[in-house]
Amino acid sequence: MSQPIVILNFGSQFTQLIARRVRQAHVFSQVLACDAPIDEVKALNPAGIILSGGPASVNDEGALWFDPAVLTLGIPVLGICYGMQIMAKALGGSVARASKGEYGLSEVTLNTDSRLFAGLKPVSDSWMSHSQQVASLPDGFIATAATGTCPIAAMENAPARLYGVQFHPEVTHSLLGEAIIRRFVLDICLCHQDWYMDSFATRAIEEIKSAVGEGTVLLGLSGGVDSAVVAALIQKAIGDRLYCVLVDHGFMRKNEAQLASEVFTAHFPAHLFAVDASDRFFEKLKGITDPEQKRKIIGAEFVAVFREEAQKLGALDHFAQGTIYPDVIESGAVPGSVTIKSHHNVGGLPAELGFTSLIEPLRTLFKDEVRELGRVLGLPPAMTDRQPFPGPGLAIRTLGELTREKVNITRESDAILLEEFENAGLHKSVSQFFAVNTNLRSVGVMGDGRSYDTAIAIRAVTTDDFMTADWARVPYDLLALVSRRITNEVPGVNRVLMDVTTKPPASIEWE
Ligand code: XMP
Repeated sequence: MSQPIVILNFGSQFTQLIARRVRQAHVFSQVLACDAPIDEVKALNPAGIILSGGPASVNDEGALWFDPAVLTLGIPVLGICYGMQIMAKALGGSVARASKGEYGLSEVTLNTDSRLFAGLKPVSDSWMSHSQQVASLPDGFIATAATGTCPIAAMENAPARLYGVQFHPEVTHSLLGEAIIRRFVLDICLCHQDWYMDSFATRAIEEIKSAVGEGTVLLGLSGGVDSAVVAALIQKAIGDRLYCVLVDHGFMRKNEAQLASEVFTAHFPAHLFAVDASDRFFEKLKGITDPEQKRKIIGAEFVAVFREEAQKLGALDHFAQGTIYPDVIESGAVPGSVTIKSHHNVGGLPAELGFTSLIEPLRTLFKDEVRELGRVLGLPPAMTDRQPFPGPGLAIRTLGELTREKVNITRESDAILLEEFENAGLHKSVSQFFAVNTNLRSVGVMGDGRSYDTAIAIRAVTTDDFMTADWARVPYDLLALVSRRITNEVPGVNRVLMDVTTKPPASIEWE
């Protein structure tokens, strides 16, 4: 691999987007904490450095800081929003509160004689989100863009290879954003474009071969895309020395367990042990209505079942899991960050079960790259294009106490919704859609009689990052069809609702 772009993370919600945009230009990017020691940055031999945005003000006491030595390595640096402001401040410029904050799209005028913006359209809409801005430039810098209220919306010192933009080129709403990132990465940092999933697959398979040697590997399959891609990679590397365990807790979507079983016995011959543990889960969850408690019980029971099944298989050498890059970033790439997202199904297991090593071949990949890798490896679209699905599955889409009957209503309604949304092609434009069993009963008429049955809600959202989301504007005729089919075909349902709430204030899931 040639030299990467290193991103120093000052805590912006867009940091991962910056890393993805760079990779979409086929250049590898890595995120480090903003205060990473200079030696750690240098050890990665970066071709360029990007300073991310951040939620704080650079003038606040205790504002996140960095080692300003990154500005004197002679490597190109691009500061975005907070990153631009911290660059200005570190080099003797000043940052002050703007007369008026700018949030959303602003018209930005670019100086196309500048190095960063050469060849671009001089005026375009860009995404702004700031209340502070650079008030005076450091020595050697010129202003290279402006908006109505922000006279220094970009700056550069081209001989020193330092650049800053107040707006967010990583956000898709910024029309020239992609061009600006490509200009920085390809024309200024002169990166080689060698980040492609087919070469990644070849390298990863070789690495797995050499890590595993003649040994065996245990992997928990969840039915989701990450663990399926890990299984496919390992299977290609070591064949049937891969042992997969699929714990069906009883809350999977319709046909989900079957799909995994088919793929990992027919197309990728591995040892697959599918365990129907649903009785145990329903038993443990009797009388439980609190969402958090449901999640905890399911997580703990999952680990217990997985451990028992693993022990039945006898001693295996290595343990594999589908940790992906956002998990790695979220577990500590911002100083003081305490969110450690452990894999809900296998936390703590590797050490406890005595494995010699942990294999995490997707640790450097974003979700869209995992899907691309799955396609390169030949997994079916039904697997690679799967929507995110929560570990506790339909259990948190069936509100209140869980019974088989209620979960079946959720599953059957969900299958109809999925089928019709896919038939209408909405899987291409809507990020996630599913049915929720509201646990609410209401009166209806069925034939000549009165019914008192369940209301199913349709949840469909569009989102870039699942941190914020809008409800999807689904065509009325499709809603009518889904409603008609669910009420006709799923016994126990007499009403269908549409959830028209954004996130925030609602979350995507209902529990
Ligand atoms: P929320 O409900 O927090 O969901 O707005 C955001 C995204 O995360 C998914 N989600 C989960 N994924 N384990 C997971 O692996 C979980 O416990 C979990 N809870 C929510 C959710 O489906 C959505 O895509």
